[in-house]
Amino acid sequence: MLSDNEVLAIRARFPIFRQAIYLNSCSQGALSDSVEKSMLELLEVWNRQGSPWDLWIEQYEIARKEFAELIGADADEVAIVPSVSAGISSVATALDFSSRKRVLMGEFEFPTMGHVWMAQQRRGANISFLQSEAGRIPAKKYAENINHETAIVPVTGVCFSNGFRSEIEEIVAAAHDKGAYVLLDDYQDCGTRPRDVKSLDLDFYTSGNLKYLLGAAGVAFLYVRRSLIEVLRPAVSGWFAQQSPFDFATQRFEPATSARRFESGTPPIPSIYLGLAGVRLLKEIGLTNVAEHVKRLTKELRRGADELGIAIKTPSDSVGPLTVLKCKNVGAMIDHLGRANVICSSRHDGLRISFHVYNTMDDVKVVLRTLETHLDLLCLETQPAGTMM
Ligand SMILES: Cc1ncc(COP(=O)(O)O)c(C=O)c1O
Repeated sequence: MLSDNEVLAIRARFPIFRQAIYLNSCSQGALSDSVEKSMLELLEVWNRQGSPWDLWIEQYEIARKEFAELIGADADEVAIVPSVSAGISSVATALDFSSRKRVLMGEFEFPTMGHVWMAQQRRGANISFLQSEAGRIPAKKYAENINHETAIVPVTGVCFSNGFRSEIEEIVAAAHDKGAYVLLDDYQDCGTRPRDVKSLDLDFYTSGNLKYLLGAAGVAFLYVRRSLIEVLRPAVSGWFAQQSPFDFATQRFEPATSARRFESGTPPIPSIYLGLAGVRLLKEIGLTNVAEHVKRLTKELRRGADELGIAIKTPSDSVGPLTVLKCKNVGAMIDHLGRANVICSSRHDGLRISFHVYNTMDDVKVVLRTLETHLDLLCLETQPAGTMM
């Protein structure tokens, strides 16, 4: 476990904490010194060499290896894509909906998940959404609804709007029992705990780098189970998806035998530089350390919010980086937090407070103190148990 001094040393590498308490990693990770340095390195080499594409392609392959290692995959099972939406779309276009038509997902998916699969309706896909019950979608509900018509079950690891953590193992077991694939969208969790796509037995996995992976927009990655790579042929493609892109063979269509076949055009080099630096920083810190630290902070926030009687949208057994509090006036709450130099975000009626390895127990105290002075803006479960600090 990280000591307080170790956490403070990590925090010192993120300049934003000199002026604010940053609790919005669920939207965008804070900028570290090493990520900033990687951008300067890119600019420096670009200035000096003009078109250092050999080096940039090398960095793109290094990034693939690092992203793969992060999730327990091999490099050739990972595609580098410009967004999670692009990665999921590539998978969606590769599926044949003539025998299995159904795509089954929960209402907690990020909107893009609905949109990408609904765009497949004209190719024969039949999309259905599971409704939540009391802030959760139990794996049992998935199991009851997956059948031999189900092609794929896309599922979010952590819900962006209420922090609910899906029961992945059980969902994978239920889907595989009926021969359906599972695609895990781990964008709201990747970077806060160790992940192993193989032990989870996933068919597809995706995350982008701009949130808990501490990078920037423009790069994401997609894991595809090895046995599916050669049988799936995405209907979106491009030269970087080919076996030999540098043959420049316009009239030859020969998709790569690796997961690169799920890519398309020129890789987003600046975002790759930033994404690589973010992942390396997290690996240096250790993802088990990150997970333990985030858990301690989240538990403390929940304890304090419970004491104040605040209605918490995140189920109590979904302890993770994101905790969502139910508000009567979330905009005003965000403004008050902003005046206390606390940066958070909202979705619908929920105030999103997300922790990463750079946050401290003092951050939790400041947030709770600010919430306590504005309880009128929050939905309450019970009467507050009295002043707490
Ligand atoms: C769970 C989840 N999936 C997907 C996305 C969107 O990813 P992209 O914009 O890279 O397509 C987000 C963005 O916030 C997200 O939270």
